[in-house]
Amino acid sequence: ASKKLLLLPGDGIGAEIMVEVEKQIAILNRHAAAGFETETALVGGCAYDAEGAPVSDATMALAQAADAVLLGAVGGPKWAGVAYEMRPEAGLLRLRKEMQLFANLRPAICYPALADASSLKREIVEGLDILIVRELTGGVYFGEPKEIVDLGNGQKRAIDTQVYDTYEIERIARTAFDLARTRRGKVTSMEKRNVMKSGLYWNEVVTRIHRDEYPDLTLEHELADAGGMKLVKAPKQFDVIVTDNLFGDMLSDIAAMLTGSLGMLPSASLGAADAKTGKRKALYEPVHGSAPDIAGTGKANPLAMIASLAMGLRYSFEMIREADALEAAVAETLEAGIRTGDVMAPGCTEVGTGEMGDQVAER
Ligand code: NAI
Ligand code: MG
Repeated sequence: ASKKLLLLPGDGIGAEIMVEVEKQIAILNRHAAAGFETETALVGGCAYDAEGAPVSDATMALAQAADAVLLGAVGGPKWAGVAYEMRPEAGLLRLRKEMQLFANLRPAICYPALADASSLKREIVEGLDILIVRELTGGVYFGEPKEIVDLGNGQKRAIDTQVYDTYEIERIARTAFDLARTRRGKVTSMEKRNVMKSGLYWNEVVTRIHRDEYPDLTLEHELADAGGMKLVKAPKQFDVIVTDNLFGDMLSDIAAMLTGSLGMLPSASLGAADAKTGKRKALYEPVHGSAPDIAGTGKANPLAMIASLAMGLRYSFEMIREADALEAAVAETLEAGIRTGDVMAPGCTEVGTGEMGDQVAER
């Protein structure tokens, strides 16, 4: 059966890095009979310019029908004055919302060749491979009431509400355990059960799902603040970290800095499994943005985008061997001293976007 990939290059460097992903897809089709069929559509500012909306209904339908969506990046100074609901980011938010992508996966991988770019010492991060699973559609960013109330005595009250229902915790917990099963079998759940009811309940539900459905895996619990300390002190003790929307936002940005370079980090956002087919909606994208400062110069690092494809192979298509091979090709290219400007180091050879993509494809 063919595998449908929707490519959404987006704005800025998005189009440049997507070309490099297409090279890897061509190699997979040619040498691994992968059977990928790709279709390309607009998202972000370019979609607003050409189609009048940051993501059109037609593109939404393509995204819903695809087996996986690969997205470059959206946004840029050109659209700074555009109405709020038409801004480039609104296209990305609509995709996430309508595809119900509740699980955000952010790996923090530190390639040995880049360990010196980390904010931490080489021995602490070299070979690091952890996966942060952040709940993306619930919690305090979305809970009601959410308002600023005038108390009438010269005081106002700002209210955000942390809300988690049983099903929301269950599905993110199952996602984390399923992922851990394909890795080193360990999940660390982070919350603040000592001061938050939602933390107490999060802990209870994750513990039950582990006991009833994944007793063969290891589950540990950390208070999110202490977990954050351990993440920078000795990150290699973790395998999969599962946490809520707010803590996950912070912990995944902290973890990103362990690895040193924004141009290297992929991400995945997964939805629920379809009751009939078992397939999950999925969107894969680099963590970085559209980098307008270097767009059009051929300097963009395509490796985060390529690593996002590798995540897609792993999580949407169960092509584990191919994902491993693609990730190994990225590591070997870096090991050979081939670098784009953002990760350039003494003694290495600086190449542009296209040459970097070619080097990976060749390996
Ligand atoms: P950015 O990630 O685009 O750039 C930050 C810095 O990192 C820049 O100096 C850029 O040149 C560099 N950089 C980023 N990716 C790189 C790569 N692949 N290779 C080499 N260097 C790279 O973040 P910034 O500048 O804050 O935002 C620029 C635009 O991107 C804004 O419009 C923002 O809203 C949007 N954005 C979009 C995201 C998305 O589509 N998911 C995520 C983050 C920002
Ligand atoms: Mg953030």
